Amino acid sequence: MTENQIQSNPVNWAVGGIFATAFVFSTAAPAADQQEPPPPSSYAPVVEEESFASTKARMEAAKPEIMARQKKLLDQRYDLSDRPAKNVTMTKGKPIQAGVRIKLPNGVTWQQLASMSPEKIRDQGLFPAGFLPLPHPNHAEGGMVFPQFHIDEIKKQEGEVLRNLTRFDLELDLPDHLLPEFPPPMFLTTRPDLGDVSKGQLVTTQNYYELFNGTLTPKQLDGVRLLVTPAPQQQFNLTADRRSARPSLGVTCFDCHANGHTNAATHLDPQTRPQESRRRLDIPTLRGVNIQRLFGSQRSLRSIEDFTEFEQRGAYFDGDNVIATKKGVNILERGSEVANMAEFQSILDFPPAPKLDIIGKLDPAKASQPEMAGQELFFGKGKCGSCHQPPFYTDNMMHDLQTERFYKTQMINGKKASGDGPIKTFPLRGIKDSPPYLHDGRLLTLDDTVEFFNVVVGTKLTEAEKKDLVAFLRTL
Ligand code: HEC
Ligand code: HEC
Repeated sequence: MTENQIQSNPVNWAVGGIFATAFVFSTAAPAADQQEPPPPSSYAPVVEEESFASTKARMEAAKPEIMARQKKLLDQRYDLSDRPAKNVTMTKGKPIQAGVRIKLPNGVTWQQLASMSPEKIRDQGLFPAGFLPLPHPNHAEGGMVFPQFHIDEIKKQEGEVLRNLTRFDLELDLPDHLLPEFPPPMFLTTRPDLGDVSKGQLVTTQNYYELFNGTLTPKQLDGVRLLVTPAPQQQFNLTADRRSARPSLGVTCFDCHANGHTNAATHLDPQTRPQESRRRLDIPTLRGVNIQRLFGSQRSLRSIEDFTEFEQRGAYFDGDNVIATKKGVNILERGSEVANMAEFQSILDFPPAPKLDIIGKLDPAKASQPEMAGQELFFGKGKCGSCHQPPFYTDNMMHDLQTERFYKTQMINGKKASGDGPIKTFPLRGIKDSPPYLHDGRLLTLDDTVEFFNVVVGTKLTEAEKKDLVAFLRTL
């Protein structure tokens, strides 16, 4: 099967450039080969030109090859093995993965790489492949893809007739040991005395009331209700243009932001066209959104209310309001529904960081020597503190890291890698709980992020200094 056949999908996108060729499908309409390719368009096709059964059979058949292609890419970039770090876990106890997982190009060391100019790295093709943008498991197709453990838990709690989040064409590409713990604990700014208010459960329609009645205000309680209530979405809806075997009631906010945190599901950004230029997105945690001022890695929406409304009207349908109308967009009422959802999100706290004092720096009485040394590097030689400012380790701004200085524009499995533009400084409080890292999840461990920033910021840290910096990041 050729690349174009893998990508071809009559009920999907024709968004221009390379995409127009992918849209000339072969299996469904052989005669299309002779036709002129359709002109570029920002819209997804509204009329289905193939039956659901035929689309499903065709895409199911293509799935093994698509997943194998992605697995090959991941193996080229990363060491995906299960190597837990000693003496440190996520908040509830899942091991943190240790070590640098990005594979180096042949013949260079990390030290050599960090001492080269960006031009030299670019011209000699030495930027490690894992530092490049990560494509979606099937970039040309895109859409929401959930981890298996989340799919299984929803099936168990809500039944699989109307809420099976399995896609017949795709699955998540990263192995579970590289993802956040599940279900993650949930902490409230209003009730720090309670600790984990989820009591070890995934909060859903089936248990939210029992868990929170008496702890939340009626408005916040209604907010949680709406955050766990499904709404139609591009891949999960009641029409034939979907990627679930059965018609689906849709997706809830907490299907991605599980327990107000993240389960590392994936998606494509809704704000870019054509398809090849869209970014893969790793799901950000909602812990600590109360102290943030910009929402979305690039959208820069200014309030939680705006982002909540935008998610269901915009992001759920890839920013296409035409297809949203067809599939049943859930219009939230601003004064009550949006406000209540935002009120609840605004009390989602960061997890405890017992070694930090009230200004967000390490308490020397509690921290180890390497952790203290790491803090010194973070604010000194490593320059991390110029963007990640305590107490929450964000400056609430966006920065352009200009990674395109280090590589030539290239296509990676249907994703055009050409620099990311300005991205929000994600807070580093609680960061050990939220692998993988960066907006698209291209980095797997905190060790990887240190190597990345060492090259990108040009800080020339020694091996020992990098270890200390990792030790510090794990305390946040
Ligand atoms: C695909 C799974 C998915 C679902 C379902 C989802 N989100 Fe998100 N959410 C994301 C992604 C991805 C981002 C980051 C977007 C970006 O970087 O532009 C995000 C960002 C956010 C942010 C901003 C966080 C920040 O740190 O900037 C908020 C707030 C948010 N979502 C709320 C919601 C609400 C409310 C819902 C339900 C209406 C929802 N999300 C449903 C994936 C999801
Ligand atoms: C010029 C500002 C700047 C500097 C300096 C900087 N960062 Fe960042 N950091 C960012 C931005 C912007 C992002 C988001 C980038 C993205 O998602 O593509 C980020 C993301 C991260 C993340 C991942 C966050 C997440 O939620 O996935 C980690 C970890 C991190 N930085 C650590 C560091 C360390 C360690 C240093 C110092 C060696 C450092 N940063 C220096 C701006 C900066």
